[in-house]
Amino acid sequence: MQLDALRRAFLRHFQTEPLLIISPGRVNLIGEHTDYNEGYVLPGAIDKAIVVALSPSGSDHCEVHALKLQQVDKFQLPHVRKGEGWQNYVRGVVHFMQQKGCALQGFYAMIDGDIPIGSGLSSSAALEGAFSFGLHQLFQLPVSPLELALIGQQAEHQYVGVRCGIMDQYANIFGKRNHLIRLDCRTLEHVYYPFQFPDYRIVLCNTMVHHALASSAYNERRRQCEEGVTILQQYHPEVKSLRDVSQAMLHDHIREIPPLIYMRCMYVVEENERVLMAGICLQQGDLEKFGDLMYASHTGLQKQYEVSCEELDYLVELTLNREEVIGARMMGGGFGGCTINIVHRDAVKDFQEYIVTTYKQKFHKTPEIYVGEIVDGVHVVD
Ligand code: GLA
Repeated sequence: MQLDALRRAFLRHFQTEPLLIISPGRVNLIGEHTDYNEGYVLPGAIDKAIVVALSPSGSDHCEVHALKLQQVDKFQLPHVRKGEGWQNYVRGVVHFMQQKGCALQGFYAMIDGDIPIGSGLSSSAALEGAFSFGLHQLFQLPVSPLELALIGQQAEHQYVGVRCGIMDQYANIFGKRNHLIRLDCRTLEHVYYPFQFPDYRIVLCNTMVHHALASSAYNERRRQCEEGVTILQQYHPEVKSLRDVSQAMLHDHIREIPPLIYMRCMYVVEENERVLMAGICLQQGDLEKFGDLMYASHTGLQKQYEVSCEELDYLVELTLNREEVIGARMMGGGFGGCTINIVHRDAVKDFQEYIVTTYKQKFHKTPEIYVGEIVDGVHVVD
């Protein structure tokens, strides 16, 4: 990470020393599309991050430079309006911090980083976290870590237009080195599980595709889950979300629920069960079983929830006969981005070569491979 280069660029341009923030992306070991159903997820922050340099501007003027994109956004406080593309992550955060009653002042910012965009590693939550946390630090604002995560989510809902769950923002804020976060998306409370298997590595394989329907399909899946809940509520008024639904309950109403909705709901109910089981596996050190759950999760996402794609399926399929791979599945919203794999450390290089060559032959694209470490969440650079 070019932290020093960023600091120098900022100093050269704005003639003042910045506060430097590292804001990581996230992986999710298991628990996909469960967060907006008030279920469970098991993410962690990773060592791919957005870095932001910040300082007060001394007026209402805000000026944000996105170095990689070579674009600059300028706006004035207190009235922030929607902008275009990446600007909305920043503007949205500023807007919702103000709505929370934060006494924000104008600022200068420069953004850099190494999270590949659209790869399912949540560069968007990292950008939101960099600004919510960064501005909170810069102006000493009284906002709790949970509120920071929620501000990021609100920005995404209302400025960007994706009705995402809370997992990505939460992992960005609460990440802890060598630990996964088992988050209960209903209570918004978490427990940390140590994730330290010295013989294994988390390997991400990037399909290098991001199919256009990703965000519309995401919102559609959310609506389908809500439809299932609405039907079930007629028989079980206590049901508030799919979190309250069991396989047996769904089964009892198989005739009342349209088949497509039934299949979506069943996936979510099963995936929640898998996350709980995965937590037990971690506590027992049973990585083999953990890996089987990852494969089962992928099958559900592919066949029941239908958010995978040919490229993701192929990357997972390639691992099935590889002894060094404990588990693999698509990760994040779907329709492209990365698969997450648990791979024996001695075979990472072989695995990487195999994936790159085989995938390239089929799709004429070179997949990028990252070996990820679980790190701390967003923080100030000392
Ligand atoms: C995206 C969203 C998350 C979550 C995942 C799917 O990353 O931002 O809230 O819903 O998809 O698990």
